[in-house]
Amino acid sequence: MQAGMVRKYTMADLYAVFGNPLSHTKSPLIHGEFARQTGQDLQYIAIEAPQDGFSPSVVAFRARGGRGINITAPFKVEAFAMATERRPRAEQAGASNAIKFEGDQIIAENFDGVGLVTDIQDNLGVPIRGRRVLMLGAGGAARGAALPIQKPAELAIVNRTVSKAHALREQFSPFGNVVSGGYADLNGNTFDIVINATSASFRGELPPITERVFARNGLGYELAYGKGLTPFLRLAQQAGVDRLTDGAGMLVEQAAAAFEWWRGVRPATRPMIATITVPLN
Ligand code: ATR
Repeated sequence: MQAGMVRKYTMADLYAVFGNPLSHTKSPLIHGEFARQTGQDLQYIAIEAPQDGFSPSVVAFRARGGRGINITAPFKVEAFAMATERRPRAEQAGASNAIKFEGDQIIAENFDGVGLVTDIQDNLGVPIRGRRVLMLGAGGAARGAALPIQKPAELAIVNRTVSKAHALREQFSPFGNVVSGGYADLNGNTFDIVINATSASFRGELPPITERVFARNGLGYELAYGKGLTPFLRLAQQAGVDRLTDGAGMLVEQAAAAFEWWRGVRPATRPMIATITVPLN
């Protein structure tokens, strides 16, 4: 049989995003478009695993021939725990947003941080080195995003539950310059880049910050995406912040990094960012 004929009858490689809830996920759209753009033969689906059933769902997906997965809330720490091999970025974050199945191995990566940094530096043109960066929140989203920011910059992590901010600082302090505290500790300090990694925006809430945290020529970055002008972004706008953005760019950049890791080819990201960006108004 000719090689071409074999290929014709081979099933597409299977990938999935796991999370709960997943009703608004854009990952199948993004990876489907990346596959079309790069000519890769793959299928990418969304699997809403039960809250207490992540690991069995992944095992079943792998048994179906799954080649890799993305992981979103609330399963990133569980995904990290079930891996047999952990790449440094996953190891340092203690959480995984991408897994590759290779032979018997379950290899964990985390591309949230590189996605965020690529979006800030390459897409938005804001250099991070030497800047004062404030991360609001110390949950799963902050954990993945903080590390690559911290290395070149001065990072402050604040959280409503202060002990969680301190725990993140202790975990990250071997890698760079980081301070932690509660919202009251902000105390009039100003930051060049303010990142909202709390889940407050999902309920239309604002973390307890004032306009004073924003440097005027700075950047206000909402990690959530597709929610328009959230209370956080509205406050940044009122403060006169030059640049406001949500997490659409980070989402597409982490997807591109995972796609490249799985498939060995890097897709273009700008067209997809333009497609999924919702105007901030
Ligand atoms: P995620 O995976 O989205 O980060 P999470 O791990 O539940 O979800 O973390 C949610 C984060 O948003 C936490 O840092 C939480 O603060 P607490 O640790 O004190 O609970 C933060 N958060 C949620 N609602 C908030 C609000 N209204 N104001 C400030 N912080 C809020």
